[in-house]
Amino acid sequence: MKTADRLDPTVFVIFGATGNLTLRKLIPALFDLSLDRSLPSQFAIIAVGRIELGDDALRRRLHDGVNQFSRFGKAQPAVWNPFAQHIQYQQGDFKKPSTYAALGSQCAKLEKQWGAKAQRIFYMATPPSLFGEIPKYLGKAGLARDREWSRIVIEKPIGYDLESARTLNTILAASFAESQIFRIDHYLGKETVQNILAFRFANPVFEPIWNRRYIDYVTITVAETSGVELRGGYYEHAGALRDMVQNHLMQLLCLVAMEPMVSFDADEIRNKKADVLHAARAIQRDAVPQCAVRGQYGPGHTDGEKAPGYREEDGVAVDSRTETFVALKLFLDNWRWQDVPFYLRTGKRLPQQASEISIQFRAVPHQAFPPEASLGWQPSRLVLSIHPEEGIVLAFQAKYPGPKMQLRPVDMHFSYRESFAAPSPDAYETLLWDVMKKDATLFMRADQVEAAWQLLMPVLDAWQAAPPCDFPNYAAGTWGPEDAQRLLAQGHSWPPPTQLAGPGKKKGRH
Ligand code: BG6
Repeated sequence: MKTADRLDPTVFVIFGATGNLTLRKLIPALFDLSLDRSLPSQFAIIAVGRIELGDDALRRRLHDGVNQFSRFGKAQPAVWNPFAQHIQYQQGDFKKPSTYAALGSQCAKLEKQWGAKAQRIFYMATPPSLFGEIPKYLGKAGLARDREWSRIVIEKPIGYDLESARTLNTILAASFAESQIFRIDHYLGKETVQNILAFRFANPVFEPIWNRRYIDYVTITVAETSGVELRGGYYEHAGALRDMVQNHLMQLLCLVAMEPMVSFDADEIRNKKADVLHAARAIQRDAVPQCAVRGQYGPGHTDGEKAPGYREEDGVAVDSRTETFVALKLFLDNWRWQDVPFYLRTGKRLPQQASEISIQFRAVPHQAFPPEASLGWQPSRLVLSIHPEEGIVLAFQAKYPGPKMQLRPVDMHFSYRESFAAPSPDAYETLLWDVMKKDATLFMRADQVEAAWQLLMPVLDAWQAAPPCDFPNYAAGTWGPEDAQRLLAQGHSWPPPTQLAGPGKKKGRH
């Protein structure tokens, strides 16, 4: 896939050798990159963990993970063993300087062995409580000093609120320059999310009408059928607003609403995205009920099976007040978007898995067709479908065949699967490769993270001050609480998820 681009020799240090992220995402993604011959030949993974474990035991464990989560399926020994030789385990306490001294020596040893300077990537795949610690130790050990050759990678949650996000950013900035810090939002690694930029700015067709003059409203939906699964403990303290809206949905909003970039430079794109958040109209705390709705699922059915209520999930309090559904109404105060509502919603245990952005165009200024011609008339709609369908649908009006003039809505489809033979890489493959290439385009900058928190703080504060008294307020397998309808202006609606045409798929819209 990426053989044309040469990467520098690399030492990839993972703090949290035995954690879920390493097992399910990082090692499978690195392994898949190796199969694509996208890793440098001089490459080592040093996985750091607290427990006593030999290299072989760790490799066996990671092999299991790769067998389950690699997009290439089971890894046969002939391909796994050569890759596994690049992995070594280092036992160490994350809060002891000796761990970092040992890491420094190991990196130096590898460089000597390779006869080449190596870039050092430090990935914090640990519980968030260590995010504020590891950078300090790396800094003290001198491992952050080389601005060109050392990098740190951090995952969401970046803070718990604005204040803690600022504190974390300050800690990171004390040892690392912003150009060395890679904050991952895995949504940005998804092909279809990156395609939003391609679609908007590589085609002259839509950009001229991508504004308040032609667009009535925009909805962004990230619906999941799953519940919190084994992550009840984490989710209880996060909730849907922190878990999904502050990061993934805000990123989608930025991509759909940003101004055209002047170049494909990382900071140019990130500046344009940050501008969107700066343009977002502040939510007044006393107006939160008019802009935000929260929900929590009770028992019900999803995917044809009985589903427990959130309060019955493992790790969740029986009287939990954590929201598993959020709907928001936002406005952007700028020339392009003034008064165009952006409706965002996300939830767990919704009826369908669907991540999509729907752009609803305005009605024609004058309806010249006779009323009987346009009974099924609907304004045009463009859907950017991110997951599980990957593609774009444009719904517009066409004449129904026959002697009479009758208008009917029809769909035009683009499906990734049908148009491109190439399979999409996993988001982590894209992102890890970009970290190794030192390309920060798809990563969140400190100011953007803080701007997103700033926008949402009034909602978090208002919700904390007035705990919900109606939870659970939607049944698993439904589209969230009825109140989510209340946010919508008259004539607006949450669109049902789109289906792309394809083998085994029904053509046409719901
Ligand atoms: C994660 C959230 O960031 O994204 C999860 O913590 C959520 O709660 C997941 O399920 C969704 O990601 P994807 O890629 O499956 O849409």
